[in-house]
Amino acid sequence: MSFQTIIEPFRIKSVEPIRMTTPEERAYFLREAHYNPFLLPSDKVLIDLLTDSGTSAMSNRQWAAMMLGDESYAGAKSWERFFEEVNDLTGMPHILPTHQGRAAERILYGYLGGKGKYFFSNTHFDTTRANIEFSGATAIDLPCPEAKNFDSADPFKGNMDVEALQKQVRQLGAANVAAVILTVTNNSGGGQPVSMANTREVARVCKQFHIPFVLDCCRIAENAYFIRHGEAEFAHLSYREIAQEMFSLADAAVMSIKKDGLVNMGGFLALRDNTLSEACTNLLIITEGFATYGGLSGRDMEAIAVGLEEVFEADYLHYRIRSTAYLGEHIRKNGVPVIFPIGGHAVYVDAKQLYPHIPPHEFPGQALVCELFEVGGVRSVEVGSVMFGKYGADGGFIPAPQELVRLALPRRVYTQSHLDYVIEVFGEILRRRETTKGLRITHEPPFLRHFTAHFEPL
Ligand code: F0G
Repeated sequence: MSFQTIIEPFRIKSVEPIRMTTPEERAYFLREAHYNPFLLPSDKVLIDLLTDSGTSAMSNRQWAAMMLGDESYAGAKSWERFFEEVNDLTGMPHILPTHQGRAAERILYGYLGGKGKYFFSNTHFDTTRANIEFSGATAIDLPCPEAKNFDSADPFKGNMDVEALQKQVRQLGAANVAAVILTVTNNSGGGQPVSMANTREVARVCKQFHIPFVLDCCRIAENAYFIRHGEAEFAHLSYREIAQEMFSLADAAVMSIKKDGLVNMGGFLALRDNTLSEACTNLLIITEGFATYGGLSGRDMEAIAVGLEEVFEADYLHYRIRSTAYLGEHIRKNGVPVIFPIGGHAVYVDAKQLYPHIPPHEFPGQALVCELFEVGGVRSVEVGSVMFGKYGADGGFIPAPQELVRLALPRRVYTQSHLDYVIEVFGEILRRRETTKGLRITHEPPFLRHFTAHFEPL
């Protein structure tokens, strides 16, 4: 007997009300926010799918652990618990706590990077790329060829193109390659998982050329789920054991604990190498905090130590991956073009295909983001020409290669009926698709314009 309904593997003890709004109210809120949902006050949002980062609901065990927070400046008990947990998970001897992922990135990539250096990744996340480029180094994405096909059923489209990696390393010289970064799951590549086979191949190339191999592991528990169910060799291992196996292949790990740590803030940098650890610890103390707390309070470290255990529980991961797939597969069946198979933390809608009549310079992704809010109060994020489009030397607009909209699911926050509602909202989006119009930018900052740009409907 197998039941279809996805049961949230928790009961709800504390609730956070969301206020119902009407389409008329939402049209007004959107106008006030200049058609950029980043500028919306969160209490105007019904279902917030802007990000899965720092938006998790904590468990009763995590809240209880927070009361044990030891806020001593040095050598706190909470640090010991944090260290033991992260050390056991990663198998790495040096653990540097940071306030979030990008602080760990700044320390590691700032140190390894610099002018003339190259980094390779399956796909660099935007803060990863920004930290690398800020150091003067170059970030090159090498996703596997299957990643380009949004509709094929390949189970590991987050993989890195290992052949291309070898070629690039030979061309540029191994001494100029600062690190190879495998992002699991591949957030900027549709939240697609990376296989253990691919991780082993990448590790082998790194070893051969003496290049540091870094795991960007913020969604490694979700990735472990896909490995267990997609690579026969791992079917008998626990999710945590699969993650441990993956860590064992790497020289370093950077984590934004705001994702698979099931907490609202936190990060770490884990290292094997003593010399590298010494250098990074100096930077940590200068910019984040003393080595036994980094950017974290004792209670944060307590909640993290519990969250990093809970995230590997089989019932939790099953619910997590199945509910993301539930949303994605339903809207796909109804005719919404999405990246398939559905990734771990988010559903990515292909707005270029949904709105073929809206050209890239009129931002089809942003049009969908606005529609989702106006129709249903759903907040999402554009990952297309608003985020990545550029202006050429002649002032002409160079669109991004893809026009996507990401619906990221906060962990343990929404129920299946919330997702049923989002599916219904997409029904209306489809009915209005031919009359939906693009937008133009009326104000934009010089960097990271998606956060603060203003728009006007055409
Ligand atoms: N690496 C990846 C793969 C990420 O997805 C993120 C954050 C970071 C690093 C940076 O971590 O935010 O803690 O400094 N991703 C969030 C998102 C912001 O919405 O996908 P951070």
